[in-house]
Amino acid sequence: MTDSAQIITPSHSPFIRVDEERVISDVDSRIYSGFLEHMGRCIYGGLVDFSETAGILVNERGYRKDVFEALKNLNMPIVRYPGGNFVSSYHWLDGVGPVSGRPRRPELAWLGEESNLFGTDEFIQWCRDISTEPYLCLNMGTGTLDEALAWVEYCNSDSDTYYANLRKQNGHERPYKVKYWGLGNEVWGPWQVGQMSSNEYSTKAFQWAKALRLLDPDIELIVCGCNGLERWDYDVTQALVAQAVDYYSIHLYTSDHDYYKNVTAPCAAERAIQITARLLDLASISNNQHGRRTKICFDEWNVWDPERAPGFKGAEERYTLQDALSVASWCNIFVRQSAHVKIANIAQCVNVIAPIMTNQTAMFLQTTYWPFYLFSKYMRGQALHLHVGTPLYNGETGFSMVDMTWIGKVEPAIPILDASAVLNKDYIAISVVNKDLNNDLTTRINLEGKFREKVKTFTLYNDDINAKNSFETPSNVTLEEGLTSWANNSTEYTFLKHSFTLLVFIRA
Ligand code: AHR
Repeated sequence: MTDSAQIITPSHSPFIRVDEERVISDVDSRIYSGFLEHMGRCIYGGLVDFSETAGILVNERGYRKDVFEALKNLNMPIVRYPGGNFVSSYHWLDGVGPVSGRPRRPELAWLGEESNLFGTDEFIQWCRDISTEPYLCLNMGTGTLDEALAWVEYCNSDSDTYYANLRKQNGHERPYKVKYWGLGNEVWGPWQVGQMSSNEYSTKAFQWAKALRLLDPDIELIVCGCNGLERWDYDVTQALVAQAVDYYSIHLYTSDHDYYKNVTAPCAAERAIQITARLLDLASISNNQHGRRTKICFDEWNVWDPERAPGFKGAEERYTLQDALSVASWCNIFVRQSAHVKIANIAQCVNVIAPIMTNQTAMFLQTTYWPFYLFSKYMRGQALHLHVGTPLYNGETGFSMVDMTWIGKVEPAIPILDASAVLNKDYIAISVVNKDLNNDLTTRINLEGKFREKVKTFTLYNDDINAKNSFETPSNVTLEEGLTSWANNSTEYTFLKHSFTLLVFIRA
């Protein structure tokens, strides 16, 4: 903990009160979506392995079987592809047609080479095999509107026209009906090929949206936002919300070397969502579009320190228990802010800042896999209001892609017990991160209703906050399942220091 930071302990003991009748909003299950980029070993060596040595590790399509199973268990409703920064100099035509004819190209985002062995058709097939919906991001860097239109036609059109016929020639008779299309990636960033000012972007995105919708009125468009807290966000929401934009995208990564700054850093995302939601309201008002709602698509988020795991070296973060607590907090935020966030994509899925790591012969699940897995499995339904009595953290929060340490200074205090809850047909689930580094917190939980006497518990804990999983010790940090008792609408539960717990109250 930094010198100026402090933990404020209230006079009462910790408590969590759940009121089944105070629903915040439906939790859109698309907040448990993912992201695959042609970056480092995400696609090649992660998702697929086309090398001759892959042997029994892969299936007939070249998918890594172990990775496929691990990702299937995350049950991601949507997967975004092919970038990220990669997309800003990607030409989709390079990645379709007979594999032998596909060009190998220099890759400008991560300074690698792109073989184009995996492209649109392979991605769509993979989405079908794993039961997820594709979300394609358009190249607004070196790409043209013609090229974008051609991609939509290739994917979605059934007409007797050139690119629709090209798809058929390539062996795919029926249109793919890709619904989600992103209007560029991080166009505001100096690292982006084809960086633009907010004015340039808004003008161009408006024209692209108009043309793309003429070709396919059923698509849903995602506009490129910044982190929700920048001038860009004000300008672009003002310029584009009135143009029938469906989603406004924001990106944020958090991390820190200091434990408390790391685990409290995601509160920047909660602020970002709240501010973006108000910017979208404001834009609707100033454009006379009352009642119309552009939703937030948080299509890149995670724990990432780009100095520790640089993008140019494949961003292979090895996550600790404290990083997993941070990921659990991120997920709590998406549930609490479910009225505003309708899609969120963890970045990324395999090897690159990912919950799943591979080498040429094996795979292991990182610490961060487990909170995401539990959220995707249980935290669906309706988000509930909670009244949480908790110690508070007062101090700076961690690093993110832009300097947001100020968030920690303006937040009056950040809950040490960070919680969210959902109401489901069969159960109520409560997710709790105890961020206290040293103290278990015995907490009274009040919940009205008829539930089975035994409550399911899942805990992610290790005595060492820096414990990691690895190929050698894949279960060093893993879920512990248990049961706790419940009677008279109340129970006392001890949340272990620096742990993540999910409690599932199954209806009687
Ligand atoms: O996810 C890694 C990179 O982070 C993405 O390519 C980019 O959009 C972001 O800066």
